[in-house]
Amino acid sequence: MKILVINGPNLNMLGIREKHIYGDKTYASLVKLIKGKAKEKGVKVKCYQSNYEGAIVTEIQKAYQKFDGIVINPGAYTHTSVAILDALKAVNIPTVEVHISAVNEREDFRQISFVKNFAFLTVTGKGFDGYIEAMDAIINKN
Ligand code: DQA
Repeated sequence: MKILVINGPNLNMLGIREKHIYGDKTYASLVKLIKGKAKEKGVKVKCYQSNYEGAIVTEIQKAYQKFDGIVINPGAYTHTSVAILDALKAVNIPTVEVHISAVNEREDFRQISFVKNFAFLTVTGKGFDGYIEAMDAIINKN
């Protein structure tokens, strides 16, 4: 089994950005956690991060018939991107949406998620553990 983990804009700034919301651990430590989990479960994982919407769309398209599951934290594109939603629908790979923070308890503009329309599960407010929960959900679904 192969899982693609996608992180969107500003998630490369974890450990620096708004630590009171996202914590003090870095993106590199998130990747390490995800890879450790994949090893433990005997699955293959690719971690991808981009600040560009089109690059994320292309990465999702490239996953067609290559990956069995997608874990995606689209960052701010969650709330704006029909293109990312359409790409997920196009490749039709089981997807879990993750947010480090409790987006439902934050600003009004964070209450809309386009990706939610396709994801079979959305995990919010669990910090880095949310990615682990998402990976487990994909592993258990297949
Ligand atoms: C986020 C929440 C988004 O609203 C925000 O734009 C992010 C991170 C989260 O992980 O909590 O960049 O997706």
